[in-house]
Parts: sequence; structure tokens; C-alpha cells
Amino acid sequence: MSPCRKARVIAIDGPAGSGKTTVGSELARRLGYLFFDTGVVYRALTLAVLRLGISLADVEAIARVASELNIRVEQPNQSDGRPYTVFLDGEDVTWQLRSQEVDRAVSPVSAIQAARAALLGVQRQVVAKGKVVVVGRDVTTVVAPEADVKVFLDASPEERARRRYAEAAARGEAVTYEDVLSNVLERDRIDSGRETAPLRRAPDAIYIDSTRLSVHEVVEQLMRVICCDGQSQG
Ligand code: DC
Repeated sequence: MSPCRKARVIAIDGPAGSGKTTVGSELARRLGYLFFDTGVVYRALTLAVLRLGISLADVEAIARVASELNIRVEQPNQSDGRPYTVFLDGEDVTWQLRSQEVDRAVSPVSAIQAARAALLGVQRQVVAKGKVVVVGRDVTTVVAPEADVKVFLDASPEERARRRYAEAAARGEAVTYEDVLSNVLERDRIDSGRETAPLRRAPDAIYIDSTRLSVHEVVEQLMRVICCDGQSQG
């Protein structure tokens, strides 16, 4: 049985398709905590870069924009299905961060080391307020290595591909399971070998293999570790 922990900050990372977003948002809802998906800061920067008409090859200009951005991530301010509200220079951009233009450009933008460094402070400020479930590729190792509970959520490549395939099929996309699986394997290879923010497992992170677990079962397991039975703590 895990010891009872008092957790102000819970950090979850793991490979694409491991369920960290679904689990993280459900856990935050149960605890009454902010759900902070760190991908939004890279998406907000990308939106700002696109609006300014800056070339994605102009690394210096992008890093400069990153250092000047004013990003706030808060609890949802509307009941339109949003898991949080993101403000960019005071403007609510929550849904704009999900546009296809941002989708296409966010990966190269998030690979710029100077931009990552500039956005670290923003992420740490959100985390420092506490009562937060923070999710993303480098949160247990870089953004919140001091988190009270650190989780590395995993699942087999086949299961992650099955989940991604089901999501794509639900959106009406014409893809095959085999295509999705080879994409997952390729991303794993790049993600663990790349220089910028490689996916690493913190040695003191709780490892959960969700291959045969439902979202509910993973959340229940984490609630037992956090041990506050759905009550948020001060
Ligand atoms: O999870 P997402 O699709 O919103 O992430 C957007 C991009 O940002 C994606 O290219 C992964 C990257 N990202 C990152 O490099 N580090 C994080 N902590 C979170 C996201």
C-alpha cells in the first residue's frame, strides 16, 4: 500500500497515446485542481508567431516572441467543454490553439531550445500556485521535478496505436491501424532519441502501465496514492 501523500502538485508525463491528457484532466476534476496541459504554452507561442507573420525558420525572432509573451492558464471560465482557459496577452485564445494552422506549426516551434527556455518560467509560475495537475513531455524532469507526485504513464505501442486509431476513426479520418502503429513507433524512436526535450522517465516517478487499464482504473489508482479521497487540500 502506498504511503499517504499531501499533493499540491501532481506531474504526469509519458509517450503520446499513453492517456496522460485524459487521465490528467479527470484527476484534476476529481481533486478540484487546475488541469495544466503544458502543450498549450507551445501552442500559444505558435499562434502569436503565425499572427505576426514570422517565418518558422526564424529561430531568433521566435525566441524573442517567446520571451515577451504574456500567457495565463486558468480554470475554465465557460461551460463549452473546455478543460481550462488560456489567455494570450489578455485575449481568450483557448479554442484558437486547436486550429489546424497551429497543429501544423507547433511541432517545429516546440523544438526550438531558446523558446523552450523562455517558456519555462511561464510554466513554473502556473505550477507554483499549486493545486495543479500538470501534464506534458518534460514535466516530471524539467518543468516540475519537485512535484509532490510524479507519474510516468505508459502503454504498449499497440495499445497506444489502437487508442489513436479509434480517435481518428471517430473524427472520420481515413487511416489504417497499421499506419497509426508505424507512426507511433516512429514517434517513440524520435522522442526518446532527440536532443530537445527527449522523453525521459524520472527515477522517482510512479510507473503505471495503462495497457490493460481503463481511464477510471488509472485515476482510482492515483487517487489512492494521493490519498485525499477527492477532497482538495490547502
Ligand atoms: O500535446 P500537444 O499536441 O498540445 O503539444 C503541442 C506540441 O508541444 C507538440 O509538438 C509537443 C510539444 N510539447 C513539448 O514539446 N513539451 C511539452 N511539455 C508539451 C508539449
